[in-house]
Amino acid sequence: MSFNVEEIRKDFPILKDVIFFDNAASTQKPLQVIESVEQFYKNNYANVLRGVYKLSEKATELYEQSRKFLADFFGVKSKEVIFTKNSTESLNLLADSLTRMIVKKKGMVKVLISVLEHHSNIVPWFIAKERYENVEIEFVGLNQEFKLDEKDFLQKVKGKDIVSLTGLSNVTGYVTNPKLFEIAKKEGAITICDGAQLVPHHKVNLDYIDFLVFSGHKMLAPVGIGVLIGKQDLLEEMPCFLGGGEMISQVNVNNFKAAELPYKFEAGTMPFVQAYGLMKALEYLNKIGFDNIVEHEKKLVEYALQKMKSVKNITIYGSDLEDKTGIIAFNHKRFHAHDVASFMDMRNIAIRAGHHCAMPLHEFLNINGSARVSFYFYNTFEEVDKFIDALNWINAL
Ligand code: ALA
Repeated sequence: MSFNVEEIRKDFPILKDVIFFDNAASTQKPLQVIESVEQFYKNNYANVLRGVYKLSEKATELYEQSRKFLADFFGVKSKEVIFTKNSTESLNLLADSLTRMIVKKKGMVKVLISVLEHHSNIVPWFIAKERYENVEIEFVGLNQEFKLDEKDFLQKVKGKDIVSLTGLSNVTGYVTNPKLFEIAKKEGAITICDGAQLVPHHKVNLDYIDFLVFSGHKMLAPVGIGVLIGKQDLLEEMPCFLGGGEMISQVNVNNFKAAELPYKFEAGTMPFVQAYGLMKALEYLNKIGFDNIVEHEKKLVEYALQKMKSVKNITIYGSDLEDKTGIIAFNHKRFHAHDVASFMDMRNIAIRAGHHCAMPLHEFLNINGSARVSFYFYNTFEEVDKFIDALNWINAL
């Protein structure tokens, strides 16, 4: 499909009123997704997997159709697609269940993450350490270009049971070299790719990735739906995480027996309407084309970086273009990041400021926060120009 950003923007009426550069936090939704959710509630709504009447069967069919769509999209089996609330819940599930499984077998678990991770890929490991003890957590550092330090990685990967890395940093915007997952796998580790920022923009190759997690709301889908894709043998071996609802095959007063995959990990009434919305979002993204998305965002970020470099008083955290995607973190020499974001808001430009749920990274950079712009395929060069005008205006304040 030819890529026409003005045509695309007609599907996102909200973009008339705001320059939306906070897409790494959450994206806007196209009318097609909003209407699909509305239609589900209007015509097909009943709880799934438990009703024997037609309406519940229809809702279940749409829920399972969404799972099948995702399975086909990623080239995995339907039973390997677990719905969750978001990437955070998926990572909490993995940290808890894998730690429990490995500690039981080996007495301890060695985990490798990086200082680039957002808190969802750090805190669950600390919680697992509190719960099960005997958990060793090591961090890979960054190099001078604000990218993951591959030499450091090579030293630390040896002997690790689990390697869990972001696929794309939500602060620096750099894509993690996929080779690192391959190396980790060959070293015998279970590999986890936190795809919260990667999956909305890039097709992911799962060859060396045991688990991929992502959130729907960062890729046009309704809020409240996330995904965990995992290898069947591991998922079968792993103990349950949350209990209740349809995740059992039997319960008595002494014990319970878990349901088969994927239901074993889906406790309580699931966000099934949102799962349907996620399928519609992926259909929409497929129509736009992931190659077009990558190319457009690459051009936007190159354009923005080139212009930002000529604005006085700005420090950019990562301006090398290799592996760079549509995220730029920066600081102003005179104003705090929150002030920069508030000034931008006066001009109807939405950007994020703070630690972006990545405090260790900011500590590593020796800063207490940063301002961040993050693009999606519906952003334009004219919007970047307005952002640069606003930076120059801030400079004159
Ligand atoms: N991780 C999300 C962000 O980067 C919340 O804004």
